[in-house]
Amino acid sequence: MKQLLKPFFFLLSLSLLPLLPFLLRSRSYPGVSLANQISTSPSAFLQVRPGFRSYDDYLKLQLNKTLNPRLRRIWSTRDWARKVSVFSRFFADLRDAGFLSNNSSALCVGARMGQEVAALRALGISDSIGMDLVPASPLVVRGDFHSQPFADASFDFEFSNVFDHALYPDRFVKEIERTLRPGGVCVLHVTLSRRGDRYSANDLFAVEGVTALFRESDLARVRKVDGFGLDTELVLRRRSA
Ligand SMILES: *[C@@H]1O[C@H](CO)[C@@H](O)[C@H](O)[C@H]1NC(C)=O
Ligand SMILES: *[C@@H]1O[C@H](CO)[C@@H](O)[C@H](O)[C@H]1NC(C)=O
Ligand SMILES: *[C@@H]1O[C@H](CO)[C@@H](O)[C@H](O)[C@H]1NC(C)=O
Repeated sequence: MKQLLKPFFFLLSLSLLPLLPFLLRSRSYPGVSLANQISTSPSAFLQVRPGFRSYDDYLKLQLNKTLNPRLRRIWSTRDWARKVSVFSRFFADLRDAGFLSNNSSALCVGARMGQEVAALRALGISDSIGMDLVPASPLVVRGDFHSQPFADASFDFEFSNVFDHALYPDRFVKEIERTLRPGGVCVLHVTLSRRGDRYSANDLFAVEGVTALFRESDLARVRKVDGFGLDTELVLRRRSA
């Protein structure tokens, strides 16, 4: 009998071989639907767009928007007052909530013409500056958010609404954490409900896609906002030493 069973089990296991991947898969994620499996993978919250052949290629595309003469004219004229007033409301609210104070040293990352900086200064937060690939004196200095031109622990507060432009989102966040003082606050405006434009370098599908990148900070607040196509405000505070 034993001699007969051996080849039987051998043949049985051979016939099960094609099913092995399915058997293993259902065993490692018991009771979880495929849709849930996809959304629990961290990389599914945030996807970097493919198609840039080099960093220079990526910079060229970003500069193309920043240097577009028609956009720059709009940003500095009919857009200016409206943007400054909306940013002023955001920053006043953040100050009321204790995330920003009059003596905060503040940086706006990817500030274009500097409307955010104008808003901060109008509120009396005078130690504020913007940074972008193209400088816009006196409000915005030249700098790449993948490699900020500032020393460690330079700022108490950093704001950005250009997270979707980051080709290396992990470096974007790492540079913010490096230049923030312990206890400092980072505020990001991001979009979850719609896709960015053709200048976007990544697509975000859930808050966790950003928050997981902040290794040295804690999420302090999340709320819905209406910020020029960006619908979600994240407030993160860098842990104290
Ligand atoms: C750059 O922008 C100009 C308009 O300012 C456009 O004509 C041109 O096609 C753009 N080039 C690339 C590579 O996107
Ligand atoms: C600002 O001033 C307050 C009160 O004088 C002080 O407690 C705080 O540490 C200062 N710095 C920042 C970044 O708020
Ligand atoms: C901050 O500055 C504004 C404008 O200069 C002023 O109205 C406000 O009282 C200041 N707040 C504090 C806590 O000093």
